[in-house]
Amino acid sequence: MAIGMFRRVIPRASTWRFVRARAHATEAAQQVEPEARAAAALKTFSIYRWNPDNPSKPELQNYEIDLKECGPMVLDALIKIKNEVDPTLTFRRSCREGICGSCAMNIDGCNGLACLTKISSESSSTITPLPHMFVIKDLVVDMTNFYNQYKSIEPWLKRKSPPSSPGKEILQSKKDRAKLDGMYECILCACCSTSCPSYWWNPESYLGPAALLHANRWISDSRDEYTKERLDAINDEFKLYRCHTILNCARACPKGLNPGKQITHIKQLQIAKRLTI
Ligand code: SF4
Ligand code: SF4
Ligand code: FES
Repeated sequence: MAIGMFRRVIPRASTWRFVRARAHATEAAQQVEPEARAAAALKTFSIYRWNPDNPSKPELQNYEIDLKECGPMVLDALIKIKNEVDPTLTFRRSCREGICGSCAMNIDGCNGLACLTKISSESSSTITPLPHMFVIKDLVVDMTNFYNQYKSIEPWLKRKSPPSSPGKEILQSKKDRAKLDGMYECILCACCSTSCPSYWWNPESYLGPAALLHANRWISDSRDEYTKERLDAINDEFKLYRCHTILNCARACPKGLNPGKQITHIKQLQIAKRLTI
């Protein structure tokens, strides 16, 4: 019998928001003979399970696998469990090289990409979905609100004047191009936003570090001609100013980016804009 302990669980349609759940499941079908155990490098993965077709309290289910027969990354372990132990285990993945962002999850208390996170040498690891997101199934979370916030900052080049050479690229100096470093690399994995306390408490009204990093990416683009309008659109107590520079976002980013720094840059531009009015 599983024991669940929840800080917050909010039903919405068929999805659930959770903070953290601790429970223990049986380890049937995971028993290993003592000699084989000695020869193997066994590790237990406690993985969050919740099935919308059979809704009950979420629980952690234990899977024991031999690391000698598994690749080095957490995603390798998940794929091995799904292929060889339990095909019902559900998670997202695609590129397995830190490009698509789909394998973002919480691994031993830290958000990260399963494909870039090495299996730790500890005897057990706990894997749960991204915090404070509605869970669709197991490790799969509902990204609709996150993507809508990204869409709201209009992440595309906007021009008022036609290009000087019609049909040709709009050129940019190397110096201006370098201003986009630290932003264009974002893969929209949501590790930062879902590690941000301000985003946890205001997920609908605060844009969160990922969307704001992208807002700054377009604000900083020398080819874009809507800088003032972009700044005006997010100059809002909730959309922008819920960031309190706690910097959990920078710690969580698997690409080494610093969304908090980009948010500070937007705030500086807002002040500069006010002073020039
Ligand atoms: S710096 Fe801002 S966006 Fe980043 S975690 Fe802190 S409050 Fe959230
Ligand atoms: S800034 Fe980093 S953590 Fe945030 S969405 Fe982009 S890649 Fe992921
Ligand atoms: S599988 Fe694409 S980032 Fe991990």
